[in-house]
Amino acid sequence: MDLKSFVIELTADGSPTLRLKSSNALHPEKMPESMHHSGGAAAETLYIYTGPFKNTLQALSELKQNQLSVGVVGLGLGYIELSVLQNLAANPAISANLTSFEKEAELVEAFTAWLNGKENKTYDLICEKLSADKNKIQNYSRLLDWKKLGELTAETSILQPFHFIAYDAFSQFTDGPLWTDEFLDFFLTQLCAKDCVFATYACTGNLKRALQRNGFLFIKRPGFSGKRDATLALRGEFIALRYLFQSV
Ligand SMILES: C[S@@+](CC[C@H](N)C(=O)[O-])C[C@H]1O[C@@H](n2cnc3c(N)ncnc32)[C@H](O)[C@@H]1O
Repeated sequence: MDLKSFVIELTADGSPTLRLKSSNALHPEKMPESMHHSGGAAAETLYIYTGPFKNTLQALSELKQNQLSVGVVGLGLGYIELSVLQNLAANPAISANLTSFEKEAELVEAFTAWLNGKENKTYDLICEKLSADKNKIQNYSRLLDWKKLGELTAETSILQPFHFIAYDAFSQFTDGPLWTDEFLDFFLTQLCAKDCVFATYACTGNLKRALQRNGFLFIKRPGFSGKRDATLALRGEFIALRYLFQSV
């Protein structure tokens, strides 16, 4: 796959990631960031996002609810979306919608072309590494109410606030505007539903405080592959079902 702004690298579990070609202008001393942990892009996605997503599906079943609005911040190579699609396809009783934000148009174009049948060995490999069935995913993606939006900003508005959110922007060195107190307050009040599960690889003091002041129960989890911590947070009816998320 030939991209303008990214180069492909393989991570330790054999799954591909993308690294930015250039450093952030504000932090030229930092190496351009890659989208995933070098220990394994697929393994990291399954641990940080797929586990909590499956728990959310269990929680919905306990709550006898079947409506689910899912948001992904940072489509990137689409690992999270592929995993979400795989799990939704296996749970036909759930009536779901999905929104992906991605500011790099070339990533949305490449991913959409593959979903529509264009050959792309990178996405085929990602499916294989996620143990996901490519044909099922491509078929299901045509049935799903799935909005692929561009850049997420403080002006973004959506119709159905998210019950599950995978917050997978680059770190604050690269995607600083998405990690400020003001932006997190906007996101958590305007785009997240009253009942909401929030998952991310990140775990910082300002993220924890933003989640707590916006009514979330903050749960610190071990980070992926030796990283110190990651975050899971629950709000509304999901808090009483906290025990379902204990495996994460
Ligand atoms: C860590 S990568 C996401 C990896 C992706 N979830 C995956 O599984 O491959 C972060 C992504 O967020 C995108 N991004 C950064 N800021 C954004 C913004 N304000 N709105 C939408 N996308 C953004 C970047 O272009 C990049 O593709």
